[in-house]
Amino acid sequence: MSSEKIPYKIYLEENEIPKQWYNVRADMKNKPAPLLNPATLKPMTAEELGVVFCDELVKQELDDTTAYIDIPAEIQDFYKMYRPAPLVRAYCLEKALGTPAKIYYKFEGNNTSGSHKLNSAIAQAYYAKKQGLKGVTTETGAGQWGTALSMACAYLGLDCKVYMVKVSYEQKPFRREVMRTYGAEVTPSPSETTNVGRKILKEHPGTTGSLGCAISEAVEVATTNEGYRYVLGSVLNQVLLHQSVIGLEAKAAMDKYNIKPDIIIGCAGGGSNLGGLISPFMGEKLRGENDYRFIAVEPASCPSFTRGKFAYDFCDTGMICPLAKMYTLGSGFIPSANHAGGLRFHGMSSTLSQLYHDGLMEAVSVEQTSVFEAATQFARVEGILPAPESSHAIRVAIDEALKCKETGEEKTILFGLTGTGYFDMVAYQKYNDGEMSDFIPTDEDLKPGFDSLPKVD
Ligand SMILES: Cc1ncc(COP(=O)(O)O)c(C=O)c1O
Repeated sequence: MSSEKIPYKIYLEENEIPKQWYNVRADMKNKPAPLLNPATLKPMTAEELGVVFCDELVKQELDDTTAYIDIPAEIQDFYKMYRPAPLVRAYCLEKALGTPAKIYYKFEGNNTSGSHKLNSAIAQAYYAKKQGLKGVTTETGAGQWGTALSMACAYLGLDCKVYMVKVSYEQKPFRREVMRTYGAEVTPSPSETTNVGRKILKEHPGTTGSLGCAISEAVEVATTNEGYRYVLGSVLNQVLLHQSVIGLEAKAAMDKYNIKPDIIIGCAGGGSNLGGLISPFMGEKLRGENDYRFIAVEPASCPSFTRGKFAYDFCDTGMICPLAKMYTLGSGFIPSANHAGGLRFHGMSSTLSQLYHDGLMEAVSVEQTSVFEAATQFARVEGILPAPESSHAIRVAIDEALKCKETGEEKTILFGLTGTGYFDMVAYQKYNDGEMSDFIPTDEDLKPGFDSLPKVD
């Protein structure tokens, strides 16, 4: 089919929304390393994980062999409220760049929470409800995950306790109020409400918090309150599984018009949107059916892929969570203030880490002023006001398209536009006022984080 016939937006029909998630681990020769019990350093059993997570989610977490997992009908119905998400041909951006490249983006910001996080929030809340639990606890950084989970819990009638990184709690009062409107209880982290929070506050008085601290608090509350479990918005295998709906839809939409992407780009915080977007394409690559270039984009201020170590580490600052083998800057790493709050986690999904380690994908880091330059350029021509996290992917999509302009290659680029930036206007204001700065940690800055890595062979 010729490119003239490709519409600006490719929508699937409602009955084409995937009915199964795809589990990329089933096709990986080298499986992601198992989570370890921090006390015994042995792989976590389902029973041990069941203290923290819902039973069905534990099953999904440990399942490295089932390629397709049915999406329960109730989750499919919820998906219908905001999916299928459009696949957009960025004709206006292509024109503005003067590139022969064809640029597509999968837009996940079309729901009230404003990001892809809802895809996994509804799944995790559903399994908690099915298990007869009272509620769930979680952490949130920039607030998108907490908002998505609050919406899902409100829909299913579950209690939702959110530990929000203090700096975001203070800087993003409206994000906080959206969560409270959906019925969630929101506590700034670190807080005096948990043992781990009190300990962190004592050791680091005046800290503005981090995702790692907030995770520790949320896990403590879940494991010490009857009828509660902890849920996490990224990093875990189960989250990548739920987010595969992004890639499956994108692929189905592209297949309709015989479009094959050459390069697939996504921002990487803990890896859930990127993992979800690339999953079905990566599956083809792993099975030897097709080849693609995959690029993870992370902030230069929190460069877990590009400067981290592939090692077992804690997912949280309080060191109470299982150990995951991943590219990490060390759980003791406290990132500098960066406006892409959702990309400030010290580690990366074990699945993506293994794929990266095996040379199946690439990673680049970008500085925040160049990210906001790309965000602004994109907003002015494509109309959507992108989230700072998503704008990392935009930056590299533009860079790749400009390389095509130099070489004359007509590459097809697909990137994940994970959300909108309406709650990030303080960051945009800083950029517009010329007050935004870039921070690249020195090796010396990274050392304390690496020194905090547990000794595991
Ligand atoms: C809009 C948006 N995009 C991307 C991310 C990064 O998370 P992940 O790497 O899990 O997709 C976040 C995290 O908060 C986010 O809010």
